[in-house]
Amino acid sequence: MLRAVGLTHGHYECRSLDETLPVFTELLAMRVLERGNGTAVVRHPNTEWQLVVHEAGAGAPDKPHNNHYGVRVARAEEVDAAHRYLLANKDRFALRRISPPRSQHFARSVYFVEPGGNTLEIEHYDAQAIAEGRTIARPHWERELPEAEFSGRGYVPQALTHGTLECDDKEASAAFYRDVLGLQIAGGGRLSIYIKHAASPWYIVVLPIPRRKKFLSPASRFTLTMASADAVAEAHRELRSAQGVTELGAIEERDGRTSFLFADLNRNWWEIGDSHHLR
Ligand SMILES: [Fe+2]
Repeated sequence: MLRAVGLTHGHYECRSLDETLPVFTELLAMRVLERGNGTAVVRHPNTEWQLVVHEAGAGAPDKPHNNHYGVRVARAEEVDAAHRYLLANKDRFALRRISPPRSQHFARSVYFVEPGGNTLEIEHYDAQAIAEGRTIARPHWERELPEAEFSGRGYVPQALTHGTLECDDKEASAAFYRDVLGLQIAGGGRLSIYIKHAASPWYIVVLPIPRRKKFLSPASRFTLTMASADAVAEAHRELRSAQGVTELGAIEERDGRTSFLFADLNRNWWEIGDSHHLR
């Protein structure tokens, strides 16, 4: 079993940074930490999890709905305000498929597709869900981002809470993510399971999809960070003989960082790297 120190990054493929970065900053309250060479790193001020956004050009495909990321607001009515704001600014941000707000399982959310071909979600989670044992409903922030820092929209995203992956078989996937990757199973929905690293609140929804058709490229992946380059090499040895690894890339060293890519039993991509400056 891998012993990562964190689930530290998501990698996200878009078409044009100039089109997609304003969606993160103006609609999701995220900030651009750095940008250069067709790549940008964005993060929400309340969430250590970073998204590395890759510019892949106009030909980059639309990603499945079940590979979305979601931010959370503090009050349910903010989801409705977000929906109104998205509709009013649809053309400005070149948004598509803005869904009406929908409630289910203590959650209320709105989805939209940004011009880079990715679905994004703005959700609210009822605190009642915590009492029902849903750990993912726990607060993902210590200090609420004040309206003054994201004014004029009627809603304030408070944290980046989750990413999403499709899977083929729920039980086999739960076993792989727990027993091979060393992640926690943090509950589940009616169909899905939630996986997370013990050290952080953000989680990945893993959803069984019958007869999956679209698969992601390595540009859409999650990064598990190891304590050292030696630990990365050890992880590579471990995954070479692990059941369920469908592709295993070579160990690479770039700018003093050691890392490799692999695809899991669902052909979803992951990166294992050490904690040197991550890209
Ligand atoms: Fe979601």
